[in-house]
Amino acid sequence: MKDELKPKDKVFAENIQTIRPFEFNENVAHVFDDMAERSIPFYKEVQKMVTSLALTYFQEGSTIYDLGSSTATTISLISQGLKDHNISDYKIRGIDSSEAMCREAETKLKSIDADMDKIRIEEGDLFDCPIENASVVIMNYTLQFIDPLKREKLVQHIYKGLRHNGILLISDKTLQSNTDTSRIFIENYYDKKRKNGYSELEISQKREALENVLVPYSVREEVALFRNCGFEAVDMFFTWYNFSSFICIKKNDQVGDL
Ligand SMILES: C[S@@+](CC[C@H](N)C(=O)[O-])C[C@H]1O[C@@H](n2cnc3c(N)ncnc32)[C@H](O)[C@@H]1O
Repeated sequence: MKDELKPKDKVFAENIQTIRPFEFNENVAHVFDDMAERSIPFYKEVQKMVTSLALTYFQEGSTIYDLGSSTATTISLISQGLKDHNISDYKIRGIDSSEAMCREAETKLKSIDADMDKIRIEEGDLFDCPIENASVVIMNYTLQFIDPLKREKLVQHIYKGLRHNGILLISDKTLQSNTDTSRIFIENYYDKKRKNGYSELEISQKREALENVLVPYSVREEVALFRNCGFEAVDMFFTWYNFSSFICIKKNDQVGDL
């Protein structure tokens, strides 16, 4: 859909008396594409990088998983990429606990004429999703919403379901190790949101709604988590202030440098 036709995110535009914890409900799902593009720095660029890496590491006959697939933006780009490369021996599974997001995903995939014999969007919890025969697992901006006490279990589960040389591509908001740096990075981030058309009210109300719902790790904690769960090669492929993306490879013969 062209940018100017996308429904605009006005979820926090009006003054809200009691701010409730943020949810991926119907109101959010309907405007999610606009929200993501205006709230996540370089969202479209990261999507392109994720697609390119996914196509590079994809192994014939395997499954690509997108955990927290939201409106299937990533799945749409990857399915288009596979078609462009004449690759037909694949499966794609998108999993999301929000029914509204799954509906938006189905609509988007149908609108681009994606091969629905090979793609399945499932409404459910990531912890209940078997991961089998995977060469690529994507988890963009979703781990940050998972209870920190359960993150290790989830990443171990992903590692187990990956083939040798399979990858986990993961993006998250991050904390900095120094409080001054954290403050300065967050200020730059809010500046970007202002430039993208969000008001002070929208920025502050959303911040309050996300409190204790989005729990970021530092880059060091994220990398330690991936390594502890078995990933032998961990590298960052994108970073902008308090956002970073990582590629984690299941490989026994190489040690990364991060
Ligand atoms: C920020 S969005 C992900 C954005 C998406 N990956 C993209 O790149 O456009 C986080 C998604 O994770 C889903 N989610 C959060 N916790 C989940 C869980 N435990 N199981 C399944 N889905 C979950 C939410 O419903 C939401 O759609």
